Amino acid sequence: MKFVLASHNKGKLKELQAILGELGVEVVLQSELGLDLEPEETGTTFAENARIKARAVMEASGLPAIADDSGLCVDALNGAPGVYSARYGGEGLTDEQRYQLVLRGVAGQFPRTCRFQCAIVCCFPNGEELSANGTCEGTVAFTPMGTDGFGYDPIFFVPRLKKTFAQLSPEEKNAISHRGNALRDFAQKLKDYLNA
Ligand code: IMP
Repeated sequence: MKFVLASHNKGKLKELQAILGELGVEVVLQSELGLDLEPEETGTTFAENARIKARAVMEASGLPAIADDSGLCVDALNGAPGVYSARYGGEGLTDEQRYQLVLRGVAGQFPRTCRFQCAIVCCFPNGEELSANGTCEGTVAFTPMGTDGFGYDPIFFVPRLKKTFAQLSPEEKNAISHRGNALRDFAQKLKDYLNA
């Protein structure tokens, strides 16, 4: 069965192919089908936004479409940046400017608990839908650490490992990350769906 990933991100495609390859399914990027649509993410939850993206690409392609949405939720900021993670602080900021905004927001506040969340939704042309979720718990670091990764990785501290996401190898991060957990949940659900 052929699936479309509602994204232009080759890194995400590789991750998905690695985990779904063993199910014998083929996954292509929406750009490989000439689809450049980018629906507005108007949802208030990660799952809603993932559904908006998956549904739009499924309708445009006629193929089952998979989308994800993720972000960082900080307790002391009432869950912000949340679904606004990619545009926190406004358009045109760098990743560093966005995480500095989080650091300033939690300065002097306790606890500094936070979590990354990821939702994956797959919409099938027959109207059926699969959804999966993953989280990873952490705290907001007192200072940015590490150079790997992207986004909020330098300030996402994993107490058990005493390292930020930006100090982990891609393999170490994938083993515990919100996206890794959501992908594993999704792979299991897709396996059950295809075998049902
Ligand atoms: P998307 O769902 O992949 O588009 O991610 C939305 C935003 O959440 C990104 O632009 C990042 O700011 C943030 N984000 C999501 N996942 C991660 C991660 O693993 N590390 C750092 N930031 C992340």
